[in-house]
Amino acid sequence: MNVVIIGAGYVGLVTGCCLAEAGHRVVCVDHDAEKLAGLRSGRLPFHEPELVTILGEQLASGRLLFEDSVARAMPNADLVFLAVGTPSQTDGSANLENLLRCANELAATAFSDCMVVVKSTVPVGTGDRLEALLNENRDQHSGHPRIRVVSNPEFLAEGRAVQDFRHPDRIVIGANDAGSAAALAQLYAPFDVDGMRLMFMDRRSAEFAKYACNAMLAARISMINELAGLASGFGADIEAVCGVLKGDPRIGGSYLHPGVGYGGSCLPKDLSALITCAKTIGEPADMLCSTQRVNNRQGRRLLEFIREYFRGELRGKRIAIWGLSFKPATDDVRAAPSLALIRGLLNEGALVSAYDPVAMKAASLALGATPVVFGASAMSVCEGADALVLMTEWDEFKAPDFKALAMCMQGSMVFDARNLYQGSMLRQYGLQHFALARCARPKGDNAGLSGRTSPVRPETAQAQAHGGEKPYS
Ligand SMILES: NC(=O)c1ccc[n+]([C@@H]2O[C@H](COP(=O)([O-])OP(=O)(O)OC[C@H]3O[C@@H](n4cnc5c(N)ncnc54)[C@H](O)[C@@H]3O)[C@@H](O)[C@H]2O)c1
Repeated sequence: MNVVIIGAGYVGLVTGCCLAEAGHRVVCVDHDAEKLAGLRSGRLPFHEPELVTILGEQLASGRLLFEDSVARAMPNADLVFLAVGTPSQTDGSANLENLLRCANELAATAFSDCMVVVKSTVPVGTGDRLEALLNENRDQHSGHPRIRVVSNPEFLAEGRAVQDFRHPDRIVIGANDAGSAAALAQLYAPFDVDGMRLMFMDRRSAEFAKYACNAMLAARISMINELAGLASGFGADIEAVCGVLKGDPRIGGSYLHPGVGYGGSCLPKDLSALITCAKTIGEPADMLCSTQRVNNRQGRRLLEFIREYFRGELRGKRIAIWGLSFKPATDDVRAAPSLALIRGLLNEGALVSAYDPVAMKAASLALGATPVVFGASAMSVCEGADALVLMTEWDEFKAPDFKALAMCMQGSMVFDARNLYQGSMLRQYGLQHFALARCARPKGDNAGLSGRTSPVRPETAQAQAHGGEKPYS
C-alpha cells in the first residue's frame, strides 16, 4: 500500500521504517528540515536500537522517502498516518495544535478518497473532530464522509520499539466502518502472523484503550512504590514481597520494580490528559490523581534523602549522576526523573556532574544553560564526588568496578534510585548503599539528628527506627 506518515519522531519513524520493511511504500513527512536532512542520509535523530539498519536498508530499497510537504507526499496515498506529538499543556490537557495543523493541511490538499489513521495519543472524541474538519468542504454525495478517520493507537516502548512493532502483542484498530477496518487489516497483515493480533473496535474505544493502558501501567508503578515505602516503614523487605506478588498469576510479574517513579514522554502526559478529560465528564478520577501524586512524591523523596544525608546542606556538594534517560536503551529525557533531580540539586547549590551512554546531548538541550558537567565516562564524573546517584539502570551500570569507584569518589554514598545494587557488595569496597525503594520516608522532624558532627546517613536513621536492624542492604 502507499502510506504517508506525518511526524517522523519515535513513533512515526519506527512505523515508517517497519512498514517499508514489510513491503509498503512509505513517505514520511516532517516539518523539521534538519531532521529530514539527517534521515535522508541515513542518520537517526534519536537513539533506538536496530532502527538505523532498517532506515539504511529501506532508503536503499527506494520504499522509504522523506518529504517536508504534505501536499507533495499525498498523491497516490492510500492512507495517511498522523504521528505528531501531543504534549501536555500547562493545565495538563493534551495539546492538539500539531495534530490540527496537520489536519488543516490535509483538508487543504486536494487528494482523493483516503483514510486518515491517528497514531498519536489523543483524547476520546478527537477522531470525530478530525473527521468533521477533514470533510468540511468536501462533496458528500454518498452521505458518508469521504475522508474516514481511524484510530490506531501505538503501544511500542522506546528502547525496544522495533521489536515491539515487528512482533506486536496487539494492534488496535478503531474504525467506524468496515471498509476502513479491512484496509488496516490489509496493511498490518505482515505483522499479524498468527491471526491473533488485530483487535477491532469503534474509534472512541480505541482512543480510550490507549489511555486505559497507560493509566494501568502508571498505577502499577505508583502502587509498587507506595508498597515499597510501607514495607520499609514496617521493617519488611520489598524484594521478598515482590517475589510473592509475582508468584500470583492474578497479579502477574511485570512493572513490579520499585524505584524513582515513572517518567518519559507518555505516562506523565497521558495521565494528566486523562485526568483533565475526566473533569469534563464530571468524573473525579480519584485513582488517577493518587497515581500521579504518588509518582510526584517519589521523585521528591530522593532529593529529600540526599539532602538529609548531607544534613540539609547541599551547597558545594559534588553529586555525580549515572543515567539521564527516563529508562535504558533510549535517549529520551522527556519528563525524566533525572532532570527533575538535577534541577533540584542545582537549586540548592550542589555541583552536578553526569554521565549517560546516549542521552547527554538530549539532557543538555533539555536543561538549557546550567553548570552541569557532562563526562566522557561513568568513572570520570565520579572523580572527587561526595555522592553518586544511580538514576537509569543501563547495562553498563549494573556491575561497575566498585573498587575504582570507591577510590575516585571523595565520599562513599551511592544513592540507588533503581534498586540495582546489593548493599553487601558495595560495603566490601567501603561504599555505602542507599536503595530508594527500601527506605522509609525521612521523618519531617530532624531535630534529633541535627546536632551530629558526622553526616547522618539514611541507613543509620533507618536502622535506629528499627531497633538497630537494617531493613535494607
Ligand atoms: N514515544 C513513544 O514511546 C510513544 C508510544 C506510543 C504513543 N506515542 C504517541 O505518539 C505521538 C508521537 O510521539 P513521539 O514520541 O513519536 O513524538 P516525537 O516528538 O518524537 O515526534 C513527533 C514528530 O512530529 C513532527 N511534527 C510535529 N508537528 C508537525 C507538523 N505539523 N507537520 C509535520 N511534522 C510535525 C515533529 O517534528 C517530530 O519529528 C504522541 O501522541 C505520543 O503520545 C508515543
